[in-house]
Parts: sequence; structure tokens; C-alpha cells
Amino acid sequence: DASDIEKGTYPHYMLKEIDEQPLVIRRLIQKYQDENGELTIDNEIVQAMNEADRIYIIACGTSYHAGLVGKQFIEKWANIPVEVHIASEFSYNMPLLSEKPLFIYISQSGETADSRAVLVRTKELGYKALTITNVPGSTLSREADYTLLLHAGPEIAVASTKAYTAQLAVLAILAVVTAKAKGLDVTIDLVKELGIVANAMETLCDAKGEMEAIVREYLATTRNCFFIGRAVDFYVCLEGALKLKEISYIQAEGFAGGELKHGTIALIENGTPVIALATQEHVNLSIRGNVKEVVARGANPCIISMKGLETEEDRYVIPAVHPMLTPLVSVVPLQLIAYYAALHRGCDVDKPRNLAKSVTVE
Ligand code: G6P
Repeated sequence: DASDIEKGTYPHYMLKEIDEQPLVIRRLIQKYQDENGELTIDNEIVQAMNEADRIYIIACGTSYHAGLVGKQFIEKWANIPVEVHIASEFSYNMPLLSEKPLFIYISQSGETADSRAVLVRTKELGYKALTITNVPGSTLSREADYTLLLHAGPEIAVASTKAYTAQLAVLAILAVVTAKAKGLDVTIDLVKELGIVANAMETLCDAKGEMEAIVREYLATTRNCFFIGRAVDFYVCLEGALKLKEISYIQAEGFAGGELKHGTIALIENGTPVIALATQEHVNLSIRGNVKEVVARGANPCIISMKGLETEEDRYVIPAVHPMLTPLVSVVPLQLIAYYAALHRGCDVDKPRNLAKSVTVE
């Protein structure tokens, strides 16, 4: 569909693609529903999942960050151990594999050479592969045994946004369908919960002014920025930092809240922006403790929390969603913060320097 790849009234593809996320999630629910409204995945794939004694997720960049969240879904819902690896590292430093591994390749483009190199190797070893990609007929899709599509529509901006949230949704669907096929008692109504996620994303897309204000307040002149979170928030922090680095060139790092004190806290100076995510009840107190630690060293804290866990000090509160699905929503303000930071610094949002949409060399 040609209208899919035009910017329309949007100044940048990235902003358009951020805004498309609620629609992509709703479309995905439909694509993975059967005639009775039940979520469904090709039986062969579900069987391969359930025959595996361990799943190895291989990916690069943003897709790797999606894999980290996907591990939580698969382990918590489907009860299968998962390892997540950066493709270029796996190639040269392969871990000891389990007896019956299944490989999942996550790649928006389906063309990333680093991931393909691992796929070629694991195929040679005789292991089954599933590719999760946005591009039907892409190399990684053709060369794998199975494919699950993201149905996100073409992603043009180099910085990946809607592909990331689509990857999370597909991984969640895969985990829940696999769990049900196994007869595990999964209580989540994923269709309903993803619907709530799409609505929450919409609320955030309507709050662009707030994100622009955060950028003006915290990131106008800073050289660096830290993102801290615990549990699944940590993985979203890695993605938030990557987005900011990629397009605004602000040096950014995502850190596990408790790890900062083991070295990186030395970098905190007067006014250093620290963006903290607080969407997880079991670590809510401890992440807030970490914020106090950096504030004591002069940091300028920006807490983004979830409704129900908020306190008065928070800068922005995202609508409540299922605690397992918060990454799909908490990433949206971080995408928007990166976008406005790049815009305010006069950077080329859609085509950042030194980066390519898909890297087809190792
Ligand atoms: C490139 C892009 C990133 C992307 C990564 C993996 O480096 O600039 O945005 O996350 O490749 O791409 P893939 O298509 O495999 O998801």
C-alpha cells in the first residue's frame, strides 16, 4: 500500500511510525486471531517451541532489546528457559548449547548479516530456526524453517520504533499460545490486555507536548543522559538509551538501577539527567532508592512511572497496563524523548549519521 510509505503530513517518518503503534498492535491482534477470536500460531511453530529444552534468541540492536523482553514472556508464561544473544558475539563465542535448542531470529529487516551468519551456522548444526520479521520473503525468513510476521508496515526511519513494539506483541502471543498448547494455566487475557496497551499507546502519542517539555527541561544542552530501571524496565532503558544515542548523538546509557553504584555513578555531576522507569511494583521502592542515590550526587531526575505506582515526585505517569506488558507502553515516551531531542539539536531524525537501516555486512 503506497500510502503506507508516505509521510503524509508528518515532518518525519519516525514520528509517523511512533504514532502508528496503536494501529499496529490492533492489526497484529487481528492477524493472530482465529475465527473464534482466539490467538493462534501455526501449529508447527508451537510444536517446535514445546519440543525445545531451551530457546536461543539471536538479534542485533533494537531487535536484541526486544529479545530481552521476549525472554521474560517465554520463561514466565511458557516455562521454557531462554538465552538472548547479540548475533555478532554468538558467532565468535558460541555458548554450550542444550540438547534440543530452538533458535529464534528477531530482525525487522530480515537482512542483517550478523544474524544471518548465526542462522547459517545453526542450520549447519541441524537446529530448527524461527524468524520473527517485518519483511515477508526476506533472507532470514527464507532461510529459517518458520516465520512470524510483524505486520507493522514498512519502517523507513533508521531508528526502529513500531517494529520493536510489534516484536514484543508477537513474542507475547507466541509465549501465551505455546503455554496454552502445553496445558499451562495462563490467566492473562492477552487479546484484552493488548487492546488496553494500544489505548495506552494512544494516550502517550497524544502527550507529545509533555515529552517535548521534558526534552527542553532535561536534555537541551546536556552531553550525556542515563536511563535506569530494574527488572523489565532495565531492558526498556537499554532501548531508550539506544534511541537517544542513535538520533540525537547525546551519550546515553541504560543501566540496571542497582548496578549504577558499582561504577557508573562516578559520572553523575550536577544536573546530569537521569531518566528512571518505575512500572514494576516489586522493584518500585528499590528503583526510587536508586533515584535518591543519584540525586544526592546532583543528578536531575525524571521519573516515568505507571499509574498505581506513582508518587508526587514523578515527571510523567503512563496509563496502567498489565505488568508484563509495560515495555510496549513505557518505550513510547522514550521514543518521543529521543525524537524531540534530535529535533531540538537540528539532527537528521530519519537518517542519522553513520547508521544504516539494515546492515548487510558483518
Ligand atoms: C541496524 C539498525 C537498527 C536495528 C539493527 C537490527 O543497526 O540501524 O535500528 O535495530 O540494524 O536490524 P534488524 O533489521 O535485524 O532488526
